This record gives sequence, structure tokens and C-alpha cells, in this order.
Amino acid sequence: MKTQRITSVDEAAAILRRGGLVAFPTETVFGLGVDATNDSAVQRLFAAKGRPSDNPLIAHVGEPASWNRAASRLTPAARALLGAFAPGPLTVVLPKYGDVSSLVTAGLETVGVRVPSHPVAAAILRAAGLPIAAPSANRSGRPSCTTWRSVLEDLDGRIDAVFCEDGERVGIESTVVDCTGDAPIVLRPGAVTIEQIRRVVPNARDSDQATGAQCEVRSPGLLHPHYQPKAEVVLVDSADSIEAIDGSAAYCGIGGGRVEGAAFIALYATVDEYAAGFYELLREVDRRSLRTVYVQRAPPVGIGVALLDRQRRAAAK
Ligand code: TXA
Ligand code: MG
Repeated sequence: MKTQRITSVDEAAAILRRGGLVAFPTETVFGLGVDATNDSAVQRLFAAKGRPSDNPLIAHVGEPASWNRAASRLTPAARALLGAFAPGPLTVVLPKYGDVSSLVTAGLETVGVRVPSHPVAAAILRAAGLPIAAPSANRSGRPSCTTWRSVLEDLDGRIDAVFCEDGERVGIESTVVDCTGDAPIVLRPGAVTIEQIRRVVPNARDSDQATGAQCEVRSPGLLHPHYQPKAEVVLVDSADSIEAIDGSAAYCGIGGGRVEGAAFIALYATVDEYAAGFYELLREVDRRSLRTVYVQRAPPVGIGVALLDRQRRAAAK
């Protein structure tokens, strides 16, 4: 398959309506879109990513009022959260609407619904007029992509088209909140922080407060490996806690410390910049064929909570 490089919203929407796979930018990471109501197209998407079929996909719509293209019912918590954070980097889990393929939801009766704010994503979704299932546009298990060139590194020849625009980004995936129960549960930390969520729904719990088993059942995909480069990822508190660093290693973190000798060093001024650059940094480490990347743990404030979650998963064996 030849992967087209496109810059036209209408072309992207037309390919999606025909059941094609189109990677496009969102304000979090690139998504790989497909018509969520088309079983065979969704099957092709799982194959292109090498994604395990028990990991459900998020259904994306062009505006908050279109939630009913993906979900059958809006719970009070979801209504409040969409009112506060949509369009934006939030996914609410709701009872599924019948048209959405059961392959998208991995057989669950629930569906994740997201309304991206990135202008290209929003325009494509509105032009397509369909619920669009879009996982992150990377080979399964690899770091997510925040540039279209990185998307091609993983998926060139495996998808129909990539939309060639990068733009501003958060760099970490959306916050996933299960809104089907009595108290909303944050299943995946993301760009919208738990503090922001509690200001809108004070009884929201984070996944640590829910039992592990509860979360595994509610979000099965979390059990699979995620965000992992080929290089070994070693988490450290600071550069000073690394005993010896050599020419086959990289370091990334926020300011300070001595890291002489590393082949590649990425220092960020703020936790937001660290989050925005993290996945691309992991990919750059692999492009340079480095053996190890020392990663300074993100401070667990603001987006740092979500970044630390991704860092731990990237380092998990
Ligand atoms: O920011 C994002 O959310 C990006 C962009 C492209 O929108 N998408 C993304 O998709 O990160 P993906 O497939 O890489 O991650 C989807 C997450 C997984 O952790 C999955 O388990 C969870 O959402 N999820 C999807 N549907 C669910 C459901 N019905 N119940 C619980 N968790 C669900
Ligand atoms: Mg992903």
C-alpha cells in the first residue's frame, strides 16, 4: 500500500468515509482514524498497528453535541466534564451506541468518547460526519507520535494517508474518565489533571483509589506494554544519581545536574515542555541506536502526573 501525504481536510474525510486509515494531528498526539461503524475497516486498523484486539479504541466526534454518534446516553458526570473540557484532551467512557462496531470497544458495552480541539482534527471529524475511532498513530507498544514524520517511521505503507501538519501540542494522551458508575474514575491520567476534574465533579476518584482489578476490567488495554523504545529506559531522580554515563546513553530531564559523557542530552525548561517533547525524545534515542536512556522522573504536579505515568510504562519490563 502507498501511504499518501495529504494536507486537505476534504481528502482526509473522503478517505475515512471510504473505510480508509488516515493519521491526523490532535492536540495530544497523532491519531490513526477509521470509520468506527465499519467492521472491516476497524479490523484493518488493528492489523496496521499490530494492536491486541482486547484493547478498546476511543471514538472521536467533531463537536460536543455530537456525543450521541458514539454513546447512547450522557451521564450527569460526563455532561459536566464535556461542558468544562470539550473540545479538549479529555475522553469520557459512556454506554455505547449501537452503530459503533463492537471491535472498536473490544466487546465492552461502553465506549470512550473524545472531542479534540486541534483545528485539523476537528475539521476532519466534522467533514467526515461519522464517529471516528482513533488510537494513537504508532505501532502497538511503541512511543506515541507527535510529528507526522514519526508516524511514517512506524506506519508508512501500512495506512492510506497521513495529514502532514504538526502544530502546537500537549504531547501526552487525553485523560480517560469512566463516567458510567456512581463516581467518575480517572482510568488514564492525561492533559486534564485530576485537580481540574475534581473542581467539576468533586467525587471523582483516581485509579489508585479504585482497586487495581476494577481498573483492569474497565480499561483492559492498560495491561499491554506501552510507549517503549528499543533502548532501555532507566528512571532516575536526577542526573546526579547516575553512577556512570557513557557514549551509548542519553539523558533527559528538567534542567540541572551533571550529565557529561552522554551521547545525547535533552533538557526542558518546564514540565509542560518535558511532556510535549518526551515521546519524540524516546524516538530520537532509537534513531541514534543508543543503548540506554536515563529519564528524570517528572515532578507529580500538573501534567507531570500523566508524564510520570508514561515514563513508568516506558520503563516497565
Ligand atoms: O489523546 C488521545 O486519547 C489519543 C488521541 C489520538 O485522541 N488517543 C489515544 O488512543 O491515546 P489509544 O488507543 O492509544 O488509547 C486509548 C485508551 C486505552 O488506554 C484504552 O484502554 C482506553 O483508552 N479506553 C478506550 N475505550 C475504553 C472503554 N470503553 N473503557 C475503558 N477504557 C477505554
Ligand atoms: Mg496508544
